[in-house]
Amino acid sequence: RMRRRQVECRGDIDTFTPGLIALYESLKPSEEHKSKQQQLVDSLTKSVSKEWPNAQLHLYGSCANSFGTSHSDVDVCLQMEIGTGSTVEILLRLAEILRTDNFESVEAITGARVPIVRMSDPGSGLSCDICINNLFAVANTKLLKDYAQIDQRLLQLAFLVKHWAKLRGVNETYRGTLSSYAYVIMCINFLQLREPKILPCLQAMEQTYFDDTECTYFDEVHQLHDFGAENKESIAKLLWEFFHYWANHHDYRNDVISVRLGKTITKQEKNWTTRIGNDRHLMCIEDPFETGHDLGRVVDRQTIRILREEFERGAAVLQYDHDPCVTLFQPYTV
Ligand code: CTP
Ligand code: MG
Repeated sequence: RMRRRQVECRGDIDTFTPGLIALYESLKPSEEHKSKQQQLVDSLTKSVSKEWPNAQLHLYGSCANSFGTSHSDVDVCLQMEIGTGSTVEILLRLAEILRTDNFESVEAITGARVPIVRMSDPGSGLSCDICINNLFAVANTKLLKDYAQIDQRLLQLAFLVKHWAKLRGVNETYRGTLSSYAYVIMCINFLQLREPKILPCLQAMEQTYFDDTECTYFDEVHQLHDFGAENKESIAKLLWEFFHYWANHHDYRNDVISVRLGKTITKQEKNWTTRIGNDRHLMCIEDPFETGHDLGRVVDRQTIRILREEFERGAAVLQYDHDPCVTLFQPYTV
């Protein structure tokens, strides 16, 4: 097993909490942003229902999971019977319709793991990704939203981590770093593992069927609003602990983090010990519902080094810098 460095957090860490909370508050989406989002959904619904009157429109991703900022795009999933046609055919037809209805920069991206149409809405100025029948994404959106209602420190921590990751250039899956979704999953698992726990494991609280189609979990989260109350850790302390965990404690060689089980499990249990195709399994993050899916699969030998250096920097800045709320979020420049 890896060396486990015991490091004490600086004594005055809590003095940085107000600054971090203020930053979090400034990142939350404005009412104006929310109404623009609704405007986009309304005009999209109009366009779609002309061609597919039975299609249902679901919002997913950060516009619906409560982890979105004013800069977040809008992610939409269309649920429909596709009959004999393929998803790609539907997307190409959808792109045509959206162009006709004067949406801008309409582009069908059909080669991705999840094929989408990307476009921007001149009315609201927002950009939007549309996928078909990706009900896992709709389900994990609700899971994240439910976790966010249990303890406010999750939203605060995840907003700060996402903001940090964007500014430090480590939120780019096409370049081998992690998705926003992966960072939120890392935050949830981290809070499940605090002593005392700040978050429960919702999937372990309910009989869950793992046949890859059932996405059930205990979702009466209003009953859990004081779950984390016994843990008094401040957001500054937790942010430091988060970086410290990923810099010095996580066992990259052997472990997989699992929100589904509320703990870490081994790569062996998942058969993630060697590279399969492009899945390198160097940093293993289990998707809560698509359990065969490693959210860290894009990470390679070079980007894992970059990620770990950034986690180390994060921990060091919070530990030693005189103005960590500024230094931590300084944009990365080459
Ligand atoms: N998603 C997924 N599996 C992935 C990546 C994403 O199921 N490997 C789904 C999740 O439902 C996620 C959504 O796609 O919430 C959008 O992903 P992403 O763009 O990473 O996150 P957002 O929460 O939309 O973040 P941002 O604010 O950066 O747009
Ligand atoms: Mg998004």
